[in-house]
Amino acid sequence: MTITKGWCLLVFLFIQLVVMALLYREGKRLAYFFDNFFKNGSSSLVFPNPQNLSLPGDIYANLRLITRQHCPEVSPYIRGPIHIQFPEALTLEEVVQKTPNVTKGGRYKPTDCESTHNSAIIIPYRNREQHLKYLLYYLHPFLQRQQLNYGIYIITQSGDFTFNRGKLLNVGFKEAMKDEDWDCMLFHDVDLIPEDDRNLYTCDRFPKHVSIAIDKFGYKLPYKSIFGGVSALTPEHYLKVNGFPNNYWGWGGEDDDFAARVELSGMMITRPSFRHARYKMIRHVRDKGNGINPKRFNLLNKTEETWKQNGINSVQYNVISKELHPLYTNITVDIGTDKA
Ligand SMILES: *[C@@H]1O[C@H](CO)[C@@H](O)[C@H](O)[C@H]1NC(C)=O
Ligand SMILES: *[C@@H]1O[C@H](CO)[C@@H](O)[C@H](O)[C@H]1NC(C)=O
Ligand SMILES: *[C@@H]1O[C@H](CO)[C@@H](O)[C@H](O)[C@H]1NC(C)=O
Ligand SMILES: *[C@@H]1O[C@H](CO)[C@@H](O)[C@H](O)[C@H]1NC(C)=O
Ligand SMILES: *[C@@H]1O[C@H](CO)[C@@H](O)[C@H](O)[C@H]1NC(C)=O
Repeated sequence: MTITKGWCLLVFLFIQLVVMALLYREGKRLAYFFDNFFKNGSSSLVFPNPQNLSLPGDIYANLRLITRQHCPEVSPYIRGPIHIQFPEALTLEEVVQKTPNVTKGGRYKPTDCESTHNSAIIIPYRNREQHLKYLLYYLHPFLQRQQLNYGIYIITQSGDFTFNRGKLLNVGFKEAMKDEDWDCMLFHDVDLIPEDDRNLYTCDRFPKHVSIAIDKFGYKLPYKSIFGGVSALTPEHYLKVNGFPNNYWGWGGEDDDFAARVELSGMMITRPSFRHARYKMIRHVRDKGNGINPKRFNLLNKTEETWKQNGINSVQYNVISKELHPLYTNITVDIGTDKA
């Protein structure tokens, strides 16, 4: 009896010695792995191509492959205010040259860490090459300094019929979500250039009105409930408000309708800091085909009755083309007319 007990103790001590020796040799690496694993959870695991794993090879090399570092909470590349200029001679080709690391269709992922943010930028568009060029020139580096995974979508309305921003944004949402599981959508006018990269293009708990301080309005809100320009919503927010109304043809109203939807669905509008969410608006004359919508007040009076039927759940359109440009995805769409 006593002999067996003694042997057990000896074997136990021996095992402990071996474990301690192993820990001494490899402890740091093991500790690092488990530490990260428990702290960051399985979301920090990136599963690589099986053929990349050198089995049975070096287990730690394999562990390093499947655990890529998360990007830090605050990107080290954030610089603050950006000096915006509109050099006339700049061409889109030059913008492409000056914007490396973006993959076809205007996609980007940080190279040195794993971003937890997937933001899609949705830009309703028709015939604004000059504005688009400047926006891309500033927006790509801005988003890259924030260490986001992102994609830029241009939603081009085909034909000459009156412009319909709300419907184009509904199309943009649907089409972008077919590409990837975006967790934040930024609905972005083409003529607004962000002036400070501390204005993060990520989503909040509630729909966020982002372009709150625009130079044209003296960097103040022109009216309290304004929700146009740039806004950030998660897909859950967007579906909850049933997206934008589809029947606002011409300038104005669709953004106020959108603000009403946020309230009607029981959410609030959040805003970032006025010091950071600053924008330069590119000056222009109102486009042909986007005159002021005279019906906007009549429509707005009906939002409460119609918002559940009129929106992302009822949008109809035909995609005419989807082109992967080096700096953006261009989805051209027939959204019909006022009559149909
Ligand atoms: C895995 O291998 C593929 C090619 O087979 C390569 O393109 C890719 O970069 C590798 N990934 C990693 C994480 O090494
Ligand atoms: C885990 O998170 C910490 C900070 O919270 C970070 O320093 C570390 O690099 C992360 N590791 C991985 C593998 O994601
Ligand atoms: C592009 O990616 C490379 C690594 O692949 C990196 O060294 C370089 O800094 C990146 N350039 C920019 C402008 O982000
Ligand atoms: C919309 O409603 C407001 C009050 O709720 C009213 O004053 C206004 O005349 C209405 N407009 C139209 C065009 O019906
Ligand atoms: C988008 O595609 C349409 C159809 O091919 C084209 O007419 C338009 O110029 C393109 N717009 C941009 C900004 O590339």
